[in-house]
Amino acid sequence: MRRKLAAGNWKMNGTTAALAEIKAMTEEVTGDIDVLICPPSPLITGAKSVSGDIAIGGQDCHAKPSGAHTGDISAAMLADVGASHVILGHSERRADHDEQDDDVRAKTIAAWEADLIAVVCVGETLAEREAQNTLDIIGGQLAGSIPDGATGLNLVVAYEPVWAIGTGKVPTTDQIGEVHDFIRAKLERRFGAGVGRSVRLLYGGSVKASNADEIFAVSNVDGALVGGASLTAADFNPIIKALNASL
Ligand code: 13P
Repeated sequence: MRRKLAAGNWKMNGTTAALAEIKAMTEEVTGDIDVLICPPSPLITGAKSVSGDIAIGGQDCHAKPSGAHTGDISAAMLADVGASHVILGHSERRADHDEQDDDVRAKTIAAWEADLIAVVCVGETLAEREAQNTLDIIGGQLAGSIPDGATGLNLVVAYEPVWAIGTGKVPTTDQIGEVHDFIRAKLERRFGAGVGRSVRLLYGGSVKASNADEIFAVSNVDGALVGGASLTAADFNPIIKALNASL
């Protein structure tokens, strides 16, 4: 009942030359799963022109629809150039821009007002995991970052352990399963079983072709949010293929 989603977060990587990679990714898209690429904002219009059935998203938005906020981008602006999703509360935004759960919640409301699907990220640091605080941290981030009114159509949650991002370190499948089951239970408790079961949960952090199969087999993993391995079709197409094969 939940459509699988293979999502790529290009972070601050890619110029117009990289649009050819998105075009090459369209060849792996079968229609049985959803595929999303979130390039840097200047590439969204170009990405839309080559993306076929691949959805295009932003990596952040401001909480306000317009105004005197130099350098910021509103959710409506993303929607206007064809974005359907926006990543919010990524740990790099939380760290680099001091984004707090309150900010992420306000941005999520703004995204919904612009009819964007919010991909809200949560995840613990290594110190938090070692102190056995993982579930407390994730629970707090979920409660603080997700507004009332979430549905399976307007929200995707990405579990991205900070220590697994860009490091090549991946939690065990048991560790991933524990957190995903916990997130599912939290969503069901807060939003009711129907909504809670319909929100897709992505795992993110050093996903690549060689570990995708085992990650996609974990309970309550509905896909992945991929950084480095989403930058080229050579790396991302096998991940799309693995998610298709997990159906
Ligand atoms: P990597 O796949 O490069 O570890 O990045 C994960 C991530 O942060 C996706 O948002």
